[in-house]
Amino acid sequence: MLNARAAVVFDAGADPQLTDVQIREPVGDEVLVRIDAVGICHTDVSVAARFRKLPMVFGHEGAGTVVQAGPEATPRVGDQVVLTFASCGTCGNCRSDAPAYCAQSTDLNMRGNRDALHLDGAPVGGGFFGQSSFCTYAIAGSRNAVVLPDLLDPALAAPLGCSVQTGVGAVLNVLAPQPADALVVFGAGAVGLSAVMAARIAGCRTIVAVDPIAQRRALATELGATATIDPTGCDAAAAVLELTGGAASAVDTTARPEVLAAAVGVLRERGTLALLGLGALTADLPVAAIMGKGLTLRGVVEGDSEPQTFIPRLVELHRRGELPLDKLVSRYPFDDFDRAWVAAKAADVVKPVLITGAVGS
Ligand SMILES: NC(=O)c1ccc[n+]([C@@H]2O[C@H](COP(=O)([O-])OP(=O)(O)OC[C@H]3O[C@@H](n4cnc5c(N)ncnc54)[C@H](O)[C@@H]3O)[C@@H](O)[C@H]2O)c1
Ligand SMILES: [Zn+2]
Ligand SMILES: [Zn+2]
Repeated sequence: MLNARAAVVFDAGADPQLTDVQIREPVGDEVLVRIDAVGICHTDVSVAARFRKLPMVFGHEGAGTVVQAGPEATPRVGDQVVLTFASCGTCGNCRSDAPAYCAQSTDLNMRGNRDALHLDGAPVGGGFFGQSSFCTYAIAGSRNAVVLPDLLDPALAAPLGCSVQTGVGAVLNVLAPQPADALVVFGAGAVGLSAVMAARIAGCRTIVAVDPIAQRRALATELGATATIDPTGCDAAAAVLELTGGAASAVDTTARPEVLAAAVGVLRERGTLALLGLGALTADLPVAAIMGKGLTLRGVVEGDSEPQTFIPRLVELHRRGELPLDKLVSRYPFDDFDRAWVAAKAADVVKPVLITGAVGS
């Protein structure tokens, strides 16, 4: 057992609290990772608010260094790794390079049932997204610890594990737009802005970002949006249609039922809406238009990515200057977890990243 410091949720709906915990040694194909940086994703905030199996450690955008490896682990001690979602590796979807749709995904990512963490001898839920990286150390499996080919600032590497992989992957792996196609992104948080960066990489000549927050619209423009729309008090779908004449692709990251209907409304014939946001359990959608225009509504988990190949590709895009991750990230010392969590909940910053053992800026 090793001593570590974790942000633990103790009571239903309560914010995490920094607490001393103990973490066990890795077994089998697991690695023990010293977390150097960890991003807060909106999914941490929304799942933590309704999680009932407590106490629990969230966090699923960990980046760090392997300090101990189980006997069957592939990463080695000293490797820099990005932690991502877990998958079984043996089900049909894993075997056909679609691990985001792993048959065991819920058990491996969402239940908090890895027995890695203790607090004064009592178990604390771990293994969120196969990691629980709101902690100075985390245990991950070899499949969800991606070794980086070259060293990368951990604060920039961290969000590759979820938000960036999700937004970029939805565009490059699923929508695959042609340069002449218009692409519209609803919600310019870390996921939506990653989709904007990917649309620019794909060469889309028209990229529209819709978000009520002025700073996020400005950042979207800086990252490649050719137009932005403030949906407050306006008919966003009509405004997008006027700009584009109908888009081939749209991405929803808001998970708001009324935005989903608007996103369907901006599509031209045979267009596709990628559903990325988590939260809208049902939505009232224009079925006749979906049918008549031959539209596709496609749920996308983690950008459909196969992380062991896609995350190194994202690192390469960053290295070439095509994924300016530093524009998304705001750094906080791990000890300031509370401040970063409040900023994430209030959407004050796009991607808060906690830095362990270092001074944030
Ligand atoms: N599918 C996946 O695999 C996956 C992975 C990561 C995150 N997510 C989910 O994706 C969503 C986005 O994550 P994020 O971290 O970017 O969150 P975020 O909260 O930072 O971004 C959402 C954005 O939507 C904007 N918004 C609110 N109302 C709007 C409206 N009416 N029209 C347009 N925009 C509006 C907000 O201002 C905000 O900027 C979350 O629901 C998250 O849980 C899904
Ligand atoms: Zn599987
Ligand atoms: Zn996430």
